[in-house]
Amino acid sequence: MTANKTILRALAGETLPTPPIWMMRQAGRYLPEYRATRAKAGDFLSLCYNPELAAEVTLQPIRRYGFDGSILFADILLVPQALGADLWFVTGEGPRLSTITTKAEMEALKPADAIHDHLAPIYETVRILSRELPEETTLIGFAGAPWTVATYMIAGKGTPNQGPAHALKDENPEVFDALMERITLATIEYLDMQIKAGAEVVKLFDSWAGSLQGTDFDRYSTEPLRQIISALKARHPDVPIIAFPRGAGARFANLHAATGADCIAIDDGVSAEWVAEHVQPNGCVQGNLKSSHMVTGGDALVQETRAIVDALAKGPHIFNLGHGITPDADPENVQLMIDTVRGTRG
Ligand code: CP3
Repeated sequence: MTANKTILRALAGETLPTPPIWMMRQAGRYLPEYRATRAKAGDFLSLCYNPELAAEVTLQPIRRYGFDGSILFADILLVPQALGADLWFVTGEGPRLSTITTKAEMEALKPADAIHDHLAPIYETVRILSRELPEETTLIGFAGAPWTVATYMIAGKGTPNQGPAHALKDENPEVFDALMERITLATIEYLDMQIKAGAEVVKLFDSWAGSLQGTDFDRYSTEPLRQIISALKARHPDVPIIAFPRGAGARFANLHAATGADCIAIDDGVSAEWVAEHVQPNGCVQGNLKSSHMVTGGDALVQETRAIVDALAKGPHIFNLGHGITPDADPENVQLMIDTVRGTRG
């Protein structure tokens, strides 16, 4: 099974002559075929909860580009919704949720093991994908990490500095800790079910880890990641786990050991040379081309892609962007990146 799945080989620690490649947000608005399917589904959440159409948009970038990995199409905010929060998306602005800032609101949430009825369509999407993906393509499930999910549940929307979540953590630790624990337990149950449905790898997105300072980073990013990973490893010892504590900076050096993840995904805030010296000796790394190259393209894209491939060639590496591709990206630039990584152009 693993032999022709290059992502699984890299995650097992193998140094490959060409790094496998996939891209965060590879199914998304930069692709005309995504926009067409999304229009058919109606709004974004209807697309997430429609297994046939969610599987279709997941497969689109695989057909177009032949990526080595395929990430389930869903969203990190489906877990809060399954716990009972209201969730909707405002066009051009992003997600909105009912907020959790009091003990009463916290106690009104559902228990962690009550999420599965709501999330059943997501597990169905995973089952469809595990049947339909090409055999060399690795199916990646995912969830948000507790801190990042909590920042949205507390503020009710995305916030530039995660101020409301920091305030609740400092002013009402009892409610904050209860919320973090609920999300942690729900995430374990959710990923367990994705794996049972056919996910071969799971990734934890801690997109706002970088706003946690000092010991807060250890307590609210690293520690919940470690708990989730150790619970999943106890149930599924052979399923590799990628952790993405975005904005970790120098702390990336310690995170394979501290979280137990098989692979640490790296953003574009650190150089590939630094990653090769300080992070890759600890295990597989994923990353880290600036996503703006998918908008601007040209020689700079080619040079920077080659530089990352070369810098990380001496250890296990999965090529990816440092963060998700943006809707204004040019699909041609994605092809140029892939051809450059695989050495099939120029
Ligand atoms: O990567 C993939 O291709 C898989 C699907 C995926 C989506 N969201 C689809 C999506 C994944 C892995 C996510 C993760 C996610 N969602 C994160 C963590 C990763 C990161 O980017 O930091 C976060 C913070 C969210 C929450 C979220 N979802 C926001 C803030 C937004 C609005 C921003 C925007 O671009 O409009 C979303 C919406 C969203 N999630 C879209 C997609 C394709 C765009 C919705 C649309 O089609 O209109």
